[in-house]
This record gives sequence, C-alpha cells and structure tokens, in this order.
Amino acid sequence: MNPTEQFQTQVRDNIKRLRANAALKADSLAWMLKAGDVGAYAYNFQWLGRPIIQVPQDIVAIQELIWQIKPDLVIETGIAHGGSLILSASMLAMLDYCDAIETGQALDPKATRRRVLGIDIDIRAHNRAAIDAHPMTHRIDMIQGSSIAPEIVARVRERAGEFERIMVILDSNHTHEHVLAELDAYAPLVSSGSYCVVFDTLIEDLPGGMYADRPWDVGNNPKTAVHEFLSRNNDFEVDEDIESKLLITVAPGGYLRRR
Ligand SMILES: C[S@@+](CC[C@H](N)C(=O)[O-])C[C@H]1O[C@@H](n2cnc3c(N)ncnc32)[C@H](O)[C@@H]1O
Repeated sequence: MNPTEQFQTQVRDNIKRLRANAALKADSLAWMLKAGDVGAYAYNFQWLGRPIIQVPQDIVAIQELIWQIKPDLVIETGIAHGGSLILSASMLAMLDYCDAIETGQALDPKATRRRVLGIDIDIRAHNRAAIDAHPMTHRIDMIQGSSIAPEIVARVRERAGEFERIMVILDSNHTHEHVLAELDAYAPLVSSGSYCVVFDTLIEDLPGGMYADRPWDVGNNPKTAVHEFLSRNNDFEVDEDIESKLLITVAPGGYLRRR
C-alpha cells in the first residue's frame, strides 16, 4: 500500500469509528443545541464577505462535494444574504480555473461555463445589491419566487436543460410539505453520482417546540420529507459518511447521493 492509499484507509477507518461512536454523536448534538440556542451559531460566518447561514463543517462538505462532482450547474433554493451562492460560485470559478490550467487555454474570468442558479421567495434589495456587486456575480443567476411554484419550477427545469452535471442544495422553507415538493421538483435534475443536499434535517433531532415562530418542528421538517421521498425513490441514498465525519452538521441524513 503506498502512502496515499495508507492515508485514505486511515481516514476511512476514522469515519467508521466515528459512525459507531454513539456517545460522541450525542455530545455533538448537545453542543449544536447549545451553540444554536445561545449564539445563533450558524449566523456567525461569511464566505468571501457575504454572510452564509451554515455551520463551518457543512461549508467544508459543500467544498468537498463540488470539487468531487465538478458540476456545471448548482441549483440552490434559499438565498438569504447570498453567502451560499457565493460559496458555490467561488468553487465553480476554481473548477473553471483548473480546467484552463489543465487545457492550457487562456482564462477569461467572465466567460463562465459553470453557473449557480438561486431561487428565493424574497430577495431583499440590499442582499441583491450586495450579490450583484460581488466579483462572483457574473456566474450567478437569481429567480425570485416560491421554489415550489409551478412557473418557477418550469423556469429552473428549462435552464437546467442547458447543463450536464447538476448538483442541488435545498435550504428554503423547512416544512415537510415544502421540502417534499422541492425534492419532487428538483431531485430529478441531479446527475448520477451527484448530490441533492437537504439542509436543516437536524430539526427532527432537536427537542420539539424549539422554533415557536416557525411552521416546522419535530415530525414536520426536511428530515421527515427526505424519509418520505426516499421511501418512493430508489435512485437516491443517504451518504452517511459525510455526517459521520462532520459530527457537527445541520444536515444529518440530508446528504443524498444519486446512484
Ligand atoms: C436559511 S435561509 C437560506 C440560507 C442560505 N442558503 C445560506 O446558506 O446562506 C432561507 C431562505 O429561504 C427563503 N424562502 C422561504 N420560503 C421560500 C420559498 N417558498 N421559496 C423559496 N425561498 C424561500 C427565505 O426568504 C430565506 O432567504
């Protein structure tokens, strides 16, 4: 076994051990509960200057997935301040840059093969202005409207038809009904071997009543939607390695790989 294979084997073993460590998983959940409750932890970070409502571990996971899959389109529901769009766009820019290096072609930063398509029911003016002013803006398209409205789904599907390798990230309204409708609308666009990442499945694992001002709760959230979706879709599976290695994640059971 060469040193690279040795290291990969070690990492696989680490992940296997973490997956079996129920006590550490429980401690991680307890930590998330406290950090989320006390510090609104997921609000504390930025990606290239834009607030991103994610925990750092999930940000690293998205980086790893985009590098691994090399999508030419990332579809995201839920834009908020734009940080997650900028994260995806910056990774796609890196992929285009690497392609140019490998092929020896001149790199035109504004000729963007790979793109991000974001959908949000309410793109606030100050957020739109900040995204439009960001250096990554030239590879981002935004649609305002509900991600499950038939006309919005039709627009996204039409746009997706122009791309070959597609990844989807769902992070908008977190009710069961909404996420299930998003999965039905957008998961079929995911390419084989690519992922549909469903954020905030964690809600199912937290104490009930934590989101008094929101329509979601235990029993009605992205994880329950994923369960229903998977019960009738055999072409997706949960990639448990990702949540096992992250430990801290808002998407346990939400990293869905298309077979
Ligand atoms: C958690 S935030 C998204 C965070 C963002 N993905 C990030 O990582 O920074 C949720 C967003 O979903 C949007 N949203 C809520 N209901 C929606 C719907 N029906 N369709 C599309 N977007 C919706 C909200 O306006 C809000 O901006």
